[in-house]
Amino acid sequence: MSLEGIKHYPVMLNEVINYLSDQKNIIDCTFGGGGYSKKILEKFPNSKVTGIDRDKRVIKIAEKLNKKFPKRFRFQNIKFSEINSIKDFQNNDYFILDLGVSNFQLRDSERSFSFNSDKKLDMGMGLNLRNAYDLINQGSMEYLKNIFKFFGEEKFSSKIAKKIVNLREKENIVNSQDLSNIINNIKFKKGKTNPSTKSFQALRMIVNEEISEIFKVLKYIIENCKVNAVIIVVSFHSLEDKLVKKIFNFYGKNLPVSRYIPTVNKYINTPIKILTKKPIVASKNEIKENPSSRSAKLRVIKKINNSNKDLKRADLNMERYFNLEENYV
Ligand SMILES: C[S@@+](CC[C@H](N)C(=O)[O-])C[C@H]1O[C@@H](n2cnc3c(N)ncnc32)[C@H](O)[C@@H]1O
Repeated sequence: MSLEGIKHYPVMLNEVINYLSDQKNIIDCTFGGGGYSKKILEKFPNSKVTGIDRDKRVIKIAEKLNKKFPKRFRFQNIKFSEINSIKDFQNNDYFILDLGVSNFQLRDSERSFSFNSDKKLDMGMGLNLRNAYDLINQGSMEYLKNIFKFFGEEKFSSKIAKKIVNLREKENIVNSQDLSNIINNIKFKKGKTNPSTKSFQALRMIVNEEISEIFKVLKYIIENCKVNAVIIVVSFHSLEDKLVKKIFNFYGKNLPVSRYIPTVNKYINTPIKILTKKPIVASKNEIKENPSSRSAKLRVIKKINNSNKDLKRADLNMERYFNLEENYV
């Protein structure tokens, strides 16, 4: 499928750009349609950008940008959890992550992210070891229920899981059209949102191991980037944002040992400073132009010193999610 002709809106572009400056090295960890990278290269003529994306279908967009800015732009088709493979990682001043799937991916029926695709279930963004077809047709009833419940916050998780397991006994569930019909027969449509939205989000997150990807990349960047580097993250749903916020709070605040013993200075010796006390959200105008930006949240931190604060998964109190993602099917 060609990416030409698909309208692409880089979310909160101006808000992201406002945190950047010229003569810096920047890693755009989620290159996508190249919206951020292109704007940065145009606006800051002495900047250098490294684009990363797991999706090989964006390589063509990256090649175009590379032709226009041969000395200032390069691209790597890797998962952002592999950011340690960037050789001059330490020389970078800004790291940008615009999480989730792109409009290109959502609209590409081959990938089956959309509800009406008749192509075999997949939902991989790229470089995947899993796919939604195996997950739906091999996952135990308990496993499917739990991922719909916890990753999709889906109230009908049990009913949906039971129906899927019953139906697949006769024949495999092949495409997202069939899957969304099954879900839509269980749930009534309220408002404009498709009743399958939450379940599809859950499947996508498991197939792409999104929770572990975010954990690994933020841990690596924060613990290894140079002092004064700035990290900018845009998230799109509550689970993503909750994880990002918890990670930032772990490094950015000295939380009290006990609620009876107040911490004297919350910020002393923390490796980062949180620059957005509350997340920034899209403007009314942007939401009007691009309604999907309404759920976006922008959080920014700055590395302020090298400390040996070492984040462990257990510090985040989200083991249930990591375990579900890890113990696939
Ligand atoms: C919302 S889009 C980014 C759009 C981009 N900011 C722009 O302006 O065009 C997210 C992109 O991140 C990529 N992505 C998501 N998770 C990733 C991961 N773990 N590693 C590398 N790329 C990832 C997706 O493939 C997708 O292209």
